[in-house]
Amino acid sequence: MRVLIIGSGGREHALAWAIAKSPLLTKLFVAPGNPGTAELAENVPLRANGIAGLVAFAKDQKIDLVVPGPEAPLVAGIADALAEAGIACCGPSAAAAELEGSKKFTKEIADAAHIPTAAWASFAHAEEAHDYIEAVGAPIVIKADGLAAGKGVVVAATLEEAHDAVTAIMEDRVHGAAGSLVVIEECMVGEEISVFALCDGEEALYFGVAADHKRVGEGDTGPNTGGMGAIFAPPWATEEVVRESMERIVRPALREMARRGTPFRGFLFAGLMVTAQGPKLIEFNVRFGDPECETVLPMLASDLLGALKAATDGTLKDVRLEWHNGGSATVVMCAKGYPGAYATGSEIYGLEEAGQVEGVTIFHAGTMAEQNGILANGGRVLAVNGVGADLRTALARAYAAIDTLDWEDGFCRRDIGRRALGQV
Ligand code: AMP
Ligand code: GLY
Repeated sequence: MRVLIIGSGGREHALAWAIAKSPLLTKLFVAPGNPGTAELAENVPLRANGIAGLVAFAKDQKIDLVVPGPEAPLVAGIADALAEAGIACCGPSAAAAELEGSKKFTKEIADAAHIPTAAWASFAHAEEAHDYIEAVGAPIVIKADGLAAGKGVVVAATLEEAHDAVTAIMEDRVHGAAGSLVVIEECMVGEEISVFALCDGEEALYFGVAADHKRVGEGDTGPNTGGMGAIFAPPWATEEVVRESMERIVRPALREMARRGTPFRGFLFAGLMVTAQGPKLIEFNVRFGDPECETVLPMLASDLLGALKAATDGTLKDVRLEWHNGGSATVVMCAKGYPGAYATGSEIYGLEEAGQVEGVTIFHAGTMAEQNGILANGGRVLAVNGVGADLRTALARAYAAIDTLDWEDGFCRRDIGRRALGQV
């Protein structure tokens, strides 16, 4: 098979790494890719959001399967454009990608399918939102309806914070048009998990569970990021929790999408809160998580490409996945300043040696190749994954690799997985 992966982050490097191992693969492209994917595939200088250019390339190169990494090309309709050109795409149509594109849409699907989730209301006028907050009280969660680069959510501990969030989102439009509507939710309490399922429109195949670490600072402090690290199968994601997540959340959502005539194909990412009443939906994403992807894929023993093909062929019900035993953990190395302003262009030394630490794979997230070596070229720069007999070993290996690196302008959280280790 000739395969094109779209994107340039650690998730796409991990997808390329897993797909490159497949006996089904004949040629792999990544658009635009990064220096990590360049070692496994041919990078193509096309923007991930340039739908027309990507479709033309896929036609020209007789691509059999396109695998979009990020949500933006999906929300912009790349799966639809590829379908028109007769090219398989392991990702949802623009209509089905609304599951990530609009929080209100997600809540409507959840209600229609009786999926456990936080009580909610949505408002198109700031004044009504302010009144609702006064009526319900704090803590309360305020969300911009549309895509806001993961920054559109405020978990407000006080009424004042909640009112300020509505003002920022709806009146000051800090997230632009994404703030023309707000969703206000009950604040759920528990541990968060990311549950993944590969879907073919009808069937949902469980594809692993991970816990992300979203805050930039140790002890879960400071602003939200894209994710500072992840662990595979945290202890609070028990078998029962995973089973409930699939039966009460993922599969009902899939059935509801199909019932509406917008079946979901591709990776469905259910962001859940494990509460005292079981798992409840926080949000859906229409793609793999990052850095969850770099954490889950090293545990997959089955052929990834075979599963992706089954998802586009509609034959997922015949697929059984095998997983490795043990633990997996990813620690993200970021440029100092992230998630605020950061500098690019500093050199990272010791990558080769770090990659040789037992059980370690280093995925490039925001790097750039130069004659002399690898330079930082993003906020999240490297995703360092370790696998081992258990989570403790996996984490120790990831940190051993990080300690081998010599990158003055980089930092990482030193406490990835610590809460989970306290529970095992
Ligand atoms: P989202 O972008 O919807 O994933 O929200 C970002 C983060 O806000 C989530 O990862 C949670 O930590 C938190 N969050 C969102 N909704 C709720 C909720 N209803 N209750 C508690 N925390 C929430
Ligand atoms: N790590 C969370 C996400 O990919 O959205």
